[in-house]
Amino acid sequence: MRRHQLDIQLKTPAQVAKMREAGLVVHAALARMREAVAPGVSTADLDAIAEQVIRDAGAVPSFKGYHGYPATICSSVNEQIVHAIPSPAQVLREGDLISIDCGAILDGWHGDSAITVPVGDVRPGLLKMAAAAEDAMWAGIAAAARGAASGRGRLTDISYAVESAVRKAGRYGIVDGYGGHGIGTEMHQDPHVLNHGRPGRGPRLVPGLCLAIEPMITEGSPRTAELADGWTVVTRDGSIAAHVEHTMALLEDGVWVLTAIDGGRARLGDLVTSAEAASL
Ligand code: MF3
Ligand code: CO
Repeated sequence: MRRHQLDIQLKTPAQVAKMREAGLVVHAALARMREAVAPGVSTADLDAIAEQVIRDAGAVPSFKGYHGYPATICSSVNEQIVHAIPSPAQVLREGDLISIDCGAILDGWHGDSAITVPVGDVRPGLLKMAAAAEDAMWAGIAAAARGAASGRGRLTDISYAVESAVRKAGRYGIVDGYGGHGIGTEMHQDPHVLNHGRPGRGPRLVPGLCLAIEPMITEGSPRTAELADGWTVVTRDGSIAAHVEHTMALLEDGVWVLTAIDGGRARLGDLVTSAEAASL
């Protein structure tokens, strides 16, 4: 079988350092939005905060204008999985679960990250699902770091680690048809990163590879539908979804989670590159 040749942009350490700056802008925007999430706040309010933080940092929102997307963030509430457009009419209520996805371009380099945040008091099952998504994302990132360190890692080791972590956490639906991606001078680059599958396939995990890892899971079926707005992806069965994302880079001596304030240190320990310590 002939395979489509992947076009993977490997980055130099200096380029990764620039992506770190973009990643920190995205982190700052998400941190401000996390604080702002509360009953009565609209998703358009969150969007305004994100755009302000990004522009104040001298960066540009990467989502705005992307294939005509009209906003700075995707704000996906409850049964919305990803790519929901913020609106002044969408007001958060106690008990909601919101995924906020945000991207920025600084000096031509992209950062892309998402968080899932409870609105006020939410039922424990939702917190558990959000934690499962987050744990799966970190399991994927750790797998990338280990694969690069061994010299034998391949892309789907990440997919396998994500899926395994989700399955271990509970009976969740793993959304298919959307996934992680290469990132660099464009938001979406090769390779596509599935959130499930067998390990040991695909391109090698090598220094310079920069990926966005983004599991999407549901409390019910993984089946999705796209709304008439041409963007919003929802669960078909109306079950609640969670989605988290980090941008990470593989370097010679470890991984650097570019959109995490600590570079990934708290979750990954020694798997994190020394470049992270040098940057602090
Ligand atoms: N951050 C999303 C992703 O990781 C992209 C958002 S799509 C956009 O794929 F249109 F909103 F930009
Ligand atoms: Co992404």
